Amino acid sequence: MTDDAAGTPGPAPRTTAASRTMLSHIMGPTEVNLLGTVHGGVVMKFVDDVAGAVAGRHSGGPAVTAAMDEMQFLNPVRVGDLVHAYAQVNWVGATSMEVGVRVMAEPWNEAGTAPRHVASAYLVFVAVDDKGQPRAVPPLILETDLDRRRHAEAEIRRSHRLARRRAIQAARAEADTEADTEAETAAGTEAEAAVLTVVENAGAGA
Ligand SMILES: CC(C)(COP(=O)(O)OP(=O)(O)OC[C@H]1O[C@@H](n2cnc3c(N)ncnc32)[C@H](O)[C@@H]1OP(=O)(O)O)[C@@H](O)C(=O)NCCC(=O)NCCS
Repeated sequence: MTDDAAGTPGPAPRTTAASRTMLSHIMGPTEVNLLGTVHGGVVMKFVDDVAGAVAGRHSGGPAVTAAMDEMQFLNPVRVGDLVHAYAQVNWVGATSMEVGVRVMAEPWNEAGTAPRHVASAYLVFVAVDDKGQPRAVPPLILETDLDRRRHAEAEIRRSHRLARRRAIQAARAEADTEADTEAETAAGTEAEAAVLTVVENAGAGA
């Protein structure tokens, strides 16, 4: 067990291997778009499913998708493709985890064909308790050079996500302040106009 700042024991660290997961699926004719290739949304759902399994296994309970970014579709997926999604935790924070997913495809009935890399994605999951509130996740044990490279790259993505979120929040707060100021100015002008009207009416009645 590890301790948090208050000295409360936290969940014990886990390796990336402990939760690494592979999910496979044969794409059928109901999963294609109007061009005849597999719909991007089907691949995204598949990616979300495998990443959710990894996040749940690492955190030892429910975890929700907080963000899905850098989803890249590199090659089309076709009906009859046997698709494999490989996923592992790249990085963990206090309550969130970044899961990386690599999707490969090969013809379902041909052995010896080199699988094609068709998509990659990075997702952020947040472990939640039974009230849907974020809960602590186990620290991550990095065992290999590949684990360490993925962790370092995830740190870069995390800092970019946070910077983008802060910048958007600041821009919205500024826009709200300007809108409030405009609304106050408009309300003030209307109130002044109403006073003038009352004064004018009072003058007319005298
Ligand atoms: C995800 C959710 C639990 C976060 O709740 P919250 O009150 O905003 O949580 P906090 O602001 O305390 O953030 C908790 C953690 O999530 C991270 N986080 C929250 N939103 C994030 C985002 N959009 N991108 C990346 N990280 C995010 C925070 O950085 C923090 O990480 P840390 O604890 O490891 O430092 C909440 O927004 C939620 O329930 N969203 C809906 C999730 C859902 O339904 N997903 C399914 C899709 S239909």
